[in-house]
Amino acid sequence: MLIKRRPDIASSEITARGLYLSRRAFIAGGAALTLGPSRATAAAETPPAEPLAAKPSPTFRVDDPPTKFESATTYNNFYEFGVDKADPSIYGARLRPRPWTVRVEGLCARPKTYDLDELLRLVPLEERVYRLRCVEGWSMVIPWIGFPLASLIKRVEPTGKARFVEFTTLYDPAQFPGQKKNLISFSSLEWPYAEGLRLDEALHPLTLLTFGMYGHVLPHQNGAPVRVVVPWKYGFKSAKSIVRIRFVTERPRTTWEKAAPNEYGFYSNVNPTVDHPRWSQATERRIGDFRRRPTLMFNGYADQVASLYAGMDLRKDF
Ligand code: MTE
Repeated sequence: MLIKRRPDIASSEITARGLYLSRRAFIAGGAALTLGPSRATAAAETPPAEPLAAKPSPTFRVDDPPTKFESATTYNNFYEFGVDKADPSIYGARLRPRPWTVRVEGLCARPKTYDLDELLRLVPLEERVYRLRCVEGWSMVIPWIGFPLASLIKRVEPTGKARFVEFTTLYDPAQFPGQKKNLISFSSLEWPYAEGLRLDEALHPLTLLTFGMYGHVLPHQNGAPVRVVVPWKYGFKSAKSIVRIRFVTERPRTTWEKAAPNEYGFYSNVNPTVDHPRWSQATERRIGDFRRRPTLMFNGYADQVASLYAGMDLRKDF
């Protein structure tokens, strides 16, 4: 997000996938020397995702047609794998999503390290179709699989002092080439990736602890094995490959806030009336469409979430 580029057109959409990958492999010949196996080899190593059963939610679904799986898994932001939209699908095979634990700690009565399989059994999984709107001006519609984050939070009993929740992504440069500080993958972000929500936002029924999409476990590039999805906020609030959830009193400093506080505020609610300093947020392009469409306040979830921000100046608290 720090790099100036045209946010709305993926080269993967203009060129056929095979041609596109081989062209990138050719262009990126130098990069491969630094990052390890060639991009083509890395892409071929990505294992097929396993099916993940979930009951479709009758309530939490939008009518818009879902984005094509191919687009949702090849046009990604996951800076741990690199700054290019195609890097996560190309280098994603390096991530080892099992065994995996999530430490839930901080200001709570029952801190606990959850094994991924235990988390998956905690409450029945649901399929929810949500819009995801990136701060860069593109959006997708994804059938996610997970359960409300609130179900986990309530189990560990946050104390009265807990006001915010911090999410931390795995730090391991061996699995995430983008975390290596070298000329090719340097993105100037601080690792590990950190995001945060106010406790009431984290407890909101829309906030989903997410393990899968399109009927399968999360592809590595989409945040395997577990991420959050907060559909009324710009996509970067939805941290991927989470290893720690921590309850704190002070507002946590998040990765994008640290990188560019004037561009990426803590709240980051989708708001068409507050422009990003470098571009308008009034419209967006749904991946797969040509025309731009008006962006909706809170990404279309205003009825459910506007009350969380009653009395706040959303121009100041952007
Ligand atoms: N989480 C981590 N750990 N690292 C990232 O770079 N990028 C964010 C978010 N979560 C990011 C992350 C951004 S900018 C967006 S738009 C969404 O993931 C993209 O999710 P998707 O690739 O599944 O569409």
